[in-house]
Amino acid sequence: MSDFRAYLEALARAGQLVRVARPVSPEFEIAAHVRKSSDTQGPAFLFENVVGHPGWTLAAGLYGTMARLPVALGCRLGEVVDRYGEAVRKPIAPRRVASGACQEVVLTGDKADCTKLPIVVHSELDAGRYLTAGVMFGRDPETGILGVGLQRMQLKGPRRFGVNMPAERRVGRAVLKAEDRGEAFGVAVALGAGPFVDLGSQAKIPHAQEKLGVAGALAGRPIDLVACKTVDADVPAGAEIVIEGHFLPKVREPEGPFGEVAGTYGLLGDRHVFEVSAITMRRDAMYQTALTGMPTTDNHVQAWPAICESIKRMAQLACPEVVDVHAIGPYYIAVVAIRKRLAYEARNVILSVLGPTAGAPQAKYCIVVDPDVNVRDLDQVLWALYTRCQPSADVMIFPPMVGAPLDPSAPVHRHSSKLGFDCTVPLGESRERYNRVIVPGVDQVSW
Ligand SMILES: Cc1cc2nc3c(=O)[nH]c(=O)nc-3n(C[C@H](O)[C@H](O)[C@H](O)COP(=O)(O)O)c2cc1C
Repeated sequence: MSDFRAYLEALARAGQLVRVARPVSPEFEIAAHVRKSSDTQGPAFLFENVVGHPGWTLAAGLYGTMARLPVALGCRLGEVVDRYGEAVRKPIAPRRVASGACQEVVLTGDKADCTKLPIVVHSELDAGRYLTAGVMFGRDPETGILGVGLQRMQLKGPRRFGVNMPAERRVGRAVLKAEDRGEAFGVAVALGAGPFVDLGSQAKIPHAQEKLGVAGALAGRPIDLVACKTVDADVPAGAEIVIEGHFLPKVREPEGPFGEVAGTYGLLGDRHVFEVSAITMRRDAMYQTALTGMPTTDNHVQAWPAICESIKRMAQLACPEVVDVHAIGPYYIAVVAIRKRLAYEARNVILSVLGPTAGAPQAKYCIVVDPDVNVRDLDQVLWALYTRCQPSADVMIFPPMVGAPLDPSAPVHRHSSKLGFDCTVPLGESRERYNRVIVPGVDQVSW
């Protein structure tokens, strides 16, 4: 069974998958289900009757809440970041296989009509139908490394998409390199590749490092790849749908607005244009969509393990005893728990987390706490902020620098001023005044 289908079964077993047989509109109604589910810790969905798209089953909200991550990775939520870190440190390279279910059906020319796919309209002011869960695969023309990333795609015609893909992205950079050579850059976009590829696609690792190795290590075995039919790229053999095509060199067209990961809209801009050359898919292919928008929903949860792994890695450069980390909202707030042994090492952690940009989380705020604070419990984090932090002594303010790329308050686009809070108890002081109030026996009572 494919990773995608095994994940659906695991979600069903965990009580986190609901089948919806009644007709639902692809315009807002599917996204509304995910929105409500994300806001109420609800399930993922399989929509079996999408209006205007008979025969299609649509999977949505597969990363709608944090409760999906233990199902996807088979471990407790508190173990997810270390599991991801292990995969980054010990990748398992993908392997090429001769054939794959994702090519049971091959549609080229006019038959490759993407308007037939149940592509969804998500948020109120979105420019139109957006394909949001497709993992993009493109081989860097200089290094030959298969770049992997996830970029939203605005449907503009049967075989045309607008894509928001900044230059810092692997595939974005490869497209620019191909443009320099006057070449149309071929990529493939895979839907329903399963949780290991979906989560691995978010890895914050150097461009020279192969992301599918992370996906393989999360799976515990190599990811099987097949060569595409019309472009020089490989895709996961078991994916549900693959859209192949080329970026048109030097062509930019208006794309957006789109409800973004910061909970605000990414505005209209001139962006890349992707022309479809083939759709390949399983005979009984399912479509997958993901909601982006107000935290916390698909986009945030899908990115969370990779973001937290990078926060932890950066923090460890400053303090070897990083106990736990969390990324809040669109990862603009990094919370780091450390066991501190030096008076001001929390300050070094703040510098280390807020400073780097390449392969790093790009946080705007960093809150450092002691190990007794649960980083994923906002009440506890705020408690540390108001009982263990003196604004005149324990706060570090930095002028605008690269980071928090979609922050609408940024004085210069893609740049943000930054703020660090040392909420750790000072060393050597009597800890008595910081003692946390505890009621004995809470674990023993029930009613
Ligand atoms: C659901 C979802 C949608 C995303 N959409 C975009 C997008 O439209 N543009 C973009 O640049 N990044 C987007 N991202 C973030 C990138 O996929 C992510 O940062 C990835 O690590 C990029 O890889 P790269 O920087 O190594 O190329 C999205 C992430 C998720 C989970």
